[in-house]
Amino acid sequence: MFESVAEKLKIAKKIVFVTGAGISQESGIPTFRGKDGLWRKYDPMKLATIDAFYDDPKLVWEWYEDRRKNILAAKPNLGHVAIADLEKYKDVRVLTQNIDGLHQRAGSSKVYELHGSIIKIKCTVCDFKKEITTSFSKVPPMCKCGNMLRPDVVWFGESLPQDVWTEAIIQARSCDVMVIAGTSLAVSPANTLPLYAKQNNAVLIEVNPEVTQMSNAIDLSIRNTSANSLPNMVSIFEEN
Ligand code: APR
Repeated sequence: MFESVAEKLKIAKKIVFVTGAGISQESGIPTFRGKDGLWRKYDPMKLATIDAFYDDPKLVWEWYEDRRKNILAAKPNLGHVAIADLEKYKDVRVLTQNIDGLHQRAGSSKVYELHGSIIKIKCTVCDFKKEITTSFSKVPPMCKCGNMLRPDVVWFGESLPQDVWTEAIIQARSCDVMVIAGTSLAVSPANTLPLYAKQNNAVLIEVNPEVTQMSNAIDLSIRNTSANSLPNMVSIFEEN
């Protein structure tokens, strides 16, 4: 870790993490655009859009039921745990694109789920919402109001939950260091968060084995996995 970045981390008041599927890859959850990526096997336009849902709600529900089963069986990895541990030393916020809940299960207490959560469902019509960790015997499940229930996740073409997005921008604009871990930054508006941090002269650190579309604007790129790199970041504080 570059001395100067270690120094920046030590004097930082607030460290914001922007995370994506890559940080859960070492928990056995496939990424979207990586080599083993989900979008290599499925066409996102056939599964992760509101039109796909109304075209074939059973298929979309079956896909989410399958993903939820895998995700609930997965465990947070050393990358998730390192971010949670950092809360012992710093004000840490996690702006995640992931819907797997692994940051919270690792112990992170201030997590903003930009794209929703796979354990949350909501009615397509009324304001019914609920958390679920079991599977449905029959899909699509119906709401008491008689309409279909759906996963409470953000599909392509849908806007992010307004309250979460507003808060995410506030956090990005007020951090001293932003660590971008495990995301290709291919999807907006999450990929604009580093720009807000830069406006506040934050130091941008990228943790990703591959180059991303923002790599040239990053102050320090750590070309390694999050499970290997993030524990080193925490060890800076444990040395003292
Ligand atoms: N550690 C860190 N980064 C990793 C690791 C790892 N172990 N393994 C893969 N990566 C990197 C890949 O190099 C890639 O840049 O993680 C990134 C994953 O990128 P994507 O698969 O595009 O996932 P993400 O950026 O989260 O996608 C954003 O797109 O499909 C939508 O809603 C979905 O939230 C998702 C959004």
